[in-house]
Amino acid sequence: MRLAGKVALVTGTGGGIGRATAQVFAREGARVVGCDLYPDGSAETVELVRAAGGEMTAMAPVDLASAAGASAWVADAAAVYGGVDVLVNNASAIRFGPITQLSVEDWSFTIRNELDIVFLVTRAVWPHLVARGGGSIVNIASISATRGAAFMPQNAHGAAKGGVLALTLQLVTEGGPHRIRVNAVSPAMTATPHTRPLLTDPASPFAGQVDRIPLGRVGEPEDVAHAVLYLASDEAAHVSGANIPVDGGAAALG
Ligand SMILES: NC(=O)c1ccc[n+]([C@@H]2O[C@H](COP(=O)([O-])OP(=O)(O)OC[C@H]3O[C@@H](n4cnc5c(N)ncnc54)[C@H](O)[C@@H]3O)[C@@H](O)[C@H]2O)c1
Repeated sequence: MRLAGKVALVTGTGGGIGRATAQVFAREGARVVGCDLYPDGSAETVELVRAAGGEMTAMAPVDLASAAGASAWVADAAAVYGGVDVLVNNASAIRFGPITQLSVEDWSFTIRNELDIVFLVTRAVWPHLVARGGGSIVNIASISATRGAAFMPQNAHGAAKGGVLALTLQLVTEGGPHRIRVNAVSPAMTATPHTRPLLTDPASPFAGQVDRIPLGRVGEPEDVAHAVLYLASDEAAHVSGANIPVDGGAAALG
């Protein structure tokens, strides 16, 4: 019960890492409020959490990449349990392309749905954390924030996630006086319903990437969720500004 009694807002709980985070948080005693663009996946996660005896509610469809959508969700989510202790900025959507083929629209879509989304939700949650006397924000960044990738044209994605890391560090300084901690978790390749088919298809650009992971496998959503759990919990009471890679050791290879 490492999050006993805490109210945790998690974005993008319709599947993948967001779903696993909601499940792990609820198992550890958190009261979870999720959301997603897609109602079906969102509702499925709530059912899974409740079936396991956890406490969770969620709103969908919610588009957090619009200022109005983010503000409305945060206001509704904070009202459910009367406050906020933890925010996990997990939701994102990406478009890939090499630099001369990435359209301006695809660049803007990615920056909006990976970087603006973190700003908009955090800005809306901040007063609730201040009112609570502190709290924890965990931003899901990526190994792409700190390195290029030969196998993936991640121009907009890398730039957006680099921005998430920079924003994390600035918020550390602004949050300190309010006892708000802000940290990041940077997954590498993680098997979710969206990525698993790419990882197993021998013709995909991801094929063979596992050979570059010292621990010899791609990540599972729960691997990421457990790092998020630590940073969200009071065990990390003196940790702010950390960026924990969850990558099987891949970042150590340079
Ligand atoms: N899976 C990986 O290999 C991997 C690697 C590194 C980083 N990450 C990061 O981890 C996080 C979760 O990734 P995932 O693989 O579980 O992704 P996913 O696509 O499976 O889940 C993301 C969820 O966010 C929701 N979402 C997207 N845009 C939204 C919006 N505007 N408003 C509300 N909801 C929105 C989606 O509907 C989806 O359910 C992301 O920030 C991603 O960049 C993932």
